[in-house]
Amino acid sequence: MNQVYQKVLDCYESIKERIPFTPKVALVLGSGLGNYADSMEVKAEIAYSEIRDFPVSTVPGHAGKFIFGYVGAVPVVCMKGRVHYYEGYPISDVVLPARLMKMMGAEILFLTNASGGINPSFGAGDFMLIKDHISCFAPNPLIGANIDELGCRFPDMSKVYDKKLQDKIRKAAEENKIPLQEGVYVQLTGPSFESPSEIKMLRTLGADAVGMSTVVEAIAANHMGMKICGISCVSNLAAGMTDNPLTHEEVQEAADKSAPLFKKLITESIISF
Ligand code: HPA
Repeated sequence: MNQVYQKVLDCYESIKERIPFTPKVALVLGSGLGNYADSMEVKAEIAYSEIRDFPVSTVPGHAGKFIFGYVGAVPVVCMKGRVHYYEGYPISDVVLPARLMKMMGAEILFLTNASGGINPSFGAGDFMLIKDHISCFAPNPLIGANIDELGCRFPDMSKVYDKKLQDKIRKAAEENKIPLQEGVYVQLTGPSFESPSEIKMLRTLGADAVGMSTVVEAIAANHMGMKICGISCVSNLAAGMTDNPLTHEEVQEAADKSAPLFKKLITESIISF
C-alpha cells in the first residue's frame, strides 16, 4: 500500500466513529475566519492533536481542529487551522487534511485564505473569487507514486474551480451587496513575503493575488474529483505597491476586520450550494 495513502486511511480509521454525519462541504478557514464555527450549529469537534500522526499547525492564529456542523441545512466539516508547507511538513502532509475530508464523504472543497493583492485595481479588504491558480512556485502534491485509489497519474487542471459553484458565489455576493473581485491566485512557499520585483513578475505572469496556501490543496482535491471553489480575502496590497513593510500582524488584523462580511459571504454561498 502507498504509504501516503495509508496515513490518510489510518487518520480516518482513528476518528471515523466520532464523525457525526457525512459532510457535503469541506470548508478550509483562512486567516481571520478562525471563529466561523460560532455561526454554525456545531455537532462535534476533533482536535488535530487527537489524530495520530496528523500534522499540527505551528502558526499563531491557526491552532487546529475539525469542526462538524450545519450551515443552514448543509452538513459541513470545517478545518479551523491549516498546515502550511513553510512550516516544514512534507507536501503530502499539507494536503492530507483535504484527502481526509474527501474520505469523510465531502463532495465540495471550499478554500479560503488571506492574500496580498497584486492587481492594481484591488484594495485591502476586497474579496476575490478564485477563478484559476498558478501552481509552479509551490511543490506539486502529486509528486511521487500515484495514489490510484484517489485519482489518475496526470489529472487535467483546466477547470479546477467549479463553474457552477462560482456562479452561486457570485449570486450570493450580489444578493447580499458584497463586492466581489475575481482573479487568479498564485501560491508561493513563503514564509518570507515577496520582494517588489517578485510581485512585478507575478503580475506579468497573470496573477491577481498571492498567498502561501490553497493551490496545493486544490490540486490534491482536483486529483480526487472533488468540486472546488475558493475565495481570497485581500488583506494587504502586495510588496512594493505601498510604502508599508508587510507584517503577519498587519495581515491578521486586516483579515480580522474583514471577517464579519467574509463569514456572511461564505454562509450565503454554502446555503446556495
Ligand atoms: N504575500 C503572501 N501571502 C500573503 C500576503 C502577501 O502579501 N498577504 C496575506 N498572505
